[in-house]
Amino acid sequence: MTYDVAAVRACFPALDEGAAHFDGPGGSQVPEPVARAVAGALGSAVSNRGVETAAERRADRIVTEARQAMADLLGGRPEGVVFGRSMTQLTYDMARTLSRGWGPGDEVVVTRLDHDANIRPWVQAAEARGVTVRWADFDPARGELDVAEIAGLLGGRTRLVAVTAASNLLGTRPDVPAIAERTHAAGALLYVDGVHLTPHAPVDLARLGADFYACSPYKFLGPHLGVLAADPVLLETIHPDKLLPSGDTVPERFELGTLPYELLAGTTAAVDFLAGLVPGEGSRRDRLAASMAALQAHERSMLDRLDTGLARIAGVTSYGAATRERTPTTLFSVDGVKPAEVYRFLAERGVNAPASNFYALECSRRLGLGDTGAVRAGIAPYTDASDVDRLLEGVRELTGRA
Ligand SMILES: Cc1ncc(COP(=O)(O)O)c(C=O)c1O
Repeated sequence: MTYDVAAVRACFPALDEGAAHFDGPGGSQVPEPVARAVAGALGSAVSNRGVETAAERRADRIVTEARQAMADLLGGRPEGVVFGRSMTQLTYDMARTLSRGWGPGDEVVVTRLDHDANIRPWVQAAEARGVTVRWADFDPARGELDVAEIAGLLGGRTRLVAVTAASNLLGTRPDVPAIAERTHAAGALLYVDGVHLTPHAPVDLARLGADFYACSPYKFLGPHLGVLAADPVLLETIHPDKLLPSGDTVPERFELGTLPYELLAGTTAAVDFLAGLVPGEGSRRDRLAASMAALQAHERSMLDRLDTGLARIAGVTSYGAATRERTPTTLFSVDGVKPAEVYRFLAERGVNAPASNFYALECSRRLGLGDTGAVRAGIAPYTDASDVDRLLEGVRELTGRA
């Protein structure tokens, strides 16, 4: 089924402001049904979850529906879906909880490709317990993290491997299933950062082999919150700090305080929107598979247009020559022009392509870009060819002046 980008764009009120948005990897724009669902929850009777009043039942339904929606999106089980404020918060919480069982001599593996949210919580938890941190490096020329890198760091005392499913700086995608196999063979757990992958590809937790998979709905057309998905059987074995009167069931025991019901309603709407990107039949999971495949094809063609265009402009350097499939995210710089200036120049022309290390600090440093980073252009479901051409035109104009 072909992807109708004009029809998709018509659902995004934010696009009426006229900017070409390449800032999706930082947070996507939101389609009208998501905004409506958030407002709808806030505009109806909602109380704490319960069964007595209509308001309690609505709150309960919103939570149940959102867990099911995320389970459909990720191929998991609703009882294994934990909601939190952000991926960062959920990862810190899990790192603190899991590390209680670690001690000197134990080891954790983190990677230089990852966003800091999947590095620092583990490094700091390890430091607090006297645990050794092993760093997996990536090839800066390709921007790819090889399985052998991680495999070489595993040992009998490895407790956990934290790896990204896709780099938010370069878009490169480690071979997570192969990493999972090696990690499990060593008797360790695998914590996967799926924040940058989830908006761009079909996800199947079982196929990935992730014990934990974290993502953020605000990156895939939804509201600002975080999700951690895991096998509920695994979650049953983990006991985080919690208030005495709050429930001890899974997944509720991992959710501290009252959930943001309106954001959960928005999350369900975002998953439904993704499932309807192309017309289709069957279960929501089936429709998501078809939609995400069509989206991937659309985004790949936009990425090709972008990468080919940038490669033709003298004075532009793109980072990461990926050999494997990557997400539609490109990092580049312009010779002789500071990334912040490129960012500003493009912004003045209505093209939003920010410059930063985007919290993938280790990655930026390893690429030789220091803490400054470079300009990132991310393709989103609403990106069309005219957006890409506007970006290329802006860069051409800038290099013509530089
Ligand atoms: C790859 C990746 N991981 C983690 C995060 C952090 O997500 P959150 O803002 O939900 O904490 C981001 C945010 O940019 C990201 O791109």
